[in-house]
Amino acid sequence: MEPAEKIFAEKDISEVRAYWNSRPCNLRHSPKPVGSREYFDEVEARKYFVEPHIPLFAEFSRWKGKKVLEIGCGMGTDTINFARAGAKVTAVDISEESLRLARQRADIFGCADIITFVQADAEKLTDFVPPEPYDLVYSFGVIHHTPHPEAVIEQVRKYMHENSLFKVMVYNKLSWKVLWILLKYGKGRWWKLDELIARYSEAQTGCPITYSYTVAGIKLLLRGMTVRRVFVEHIFPYSILEYTRYEYKKMWYFDMLPEMFFRRLEQNFGWHLCAEAMLSRQNPAIIREKVEK
Ligand SMILES: C[S@@+](CC[C@H](N)C(=O)[O-])C[C@H]1O[C@@H](n2cnc3c(N)ncnc32)[C@H](O)[C@@H]1O
Repeated sequence: MEPAEKIFAEKDISEVRAYWNSRPCNLRHSPKPVGSREYFDEVEARKYFVEPHIPLFAEFSRWKGKKVLEIGCGMGTDTINFARAGAKVTAVDISEESLRLARQRADIFGCADIITFVQADAEKLTDFVPPEPYDLVYSFGVIHHTPHPEAVIEQVRKYMHENSLFKVMVYNKLSWKVLWILLKYGKGRWWKLDELIARYSEAQTGCPITYSYTVAGIKLLLRGMTVRRVFVEHIFPYSILEYTRYEYKKMWYFDMLPEMFFRRLEQNFGWHLCAEAMLSRQNPAIIREKVEK
């Protein structure tokens, strides 16, 4: 099995941008006219209904009066909620189409003056956004889609002070979803696993890059930071066919499962690997030196 880096690191960021331009994340979360107030309201309602852990993880109201940097804002569902809660937000994304929708949303909800949107490659963020400290750096479901996630982490450090929090979600390799992809689409071809995950990770097939991580893997990615919390969430329990018709019918096997067992399953084999980290008080170079000794 080829390492994921070998498959994804050579890809060009333009492929990533083209993919997300062709279908911004959650674009079909509502059948209402794209860009209308009702459309954005329905997108938000559906997103937080299916992924109720997002508002809990983001803790929007905690950031009132604080500076938030969001990396990979997509069409701005979380962005708007940080702004509505009273945070001053800088939101970046590589996809101009996603940003167009996010800006439109900010205008409609009267938040345009407290959100700065920037089109930027997060791997080179300092070329686009002046490096100054933020209270929260937030990135949900983004850095596993870029050729060099470790380059984004290096950039993130430049926007943190000693009390800043970094909240990040990446995909969980040891998850129900990966098993499902492997069996349903991959017919068990485990040696193709990383390519299969990328191909089927999103609503639109053919995502060019999707890394996935174990708990040890995310800790390694965040090395040099103090990881305060890592947890796993989210199994999608609904039948896809009904879901595309905006109906929520659980697959029979999840429907039969008592809620308590379903939650256990989610918290162990969910698709979202969430972590919170702070800058280590010690210089990462010193830590590396200690490890090498
Ligand atoms: C799955 S979507 C998540 C969007 C948003 N965080 C949400 O939860 O709705 C991934 C987003 O990451 C953005 N992205 C991927 N690589 C990026 C990079 N190197 N720099 C900036 N944005 C990137 C994509 O354009 C896309 O909007």
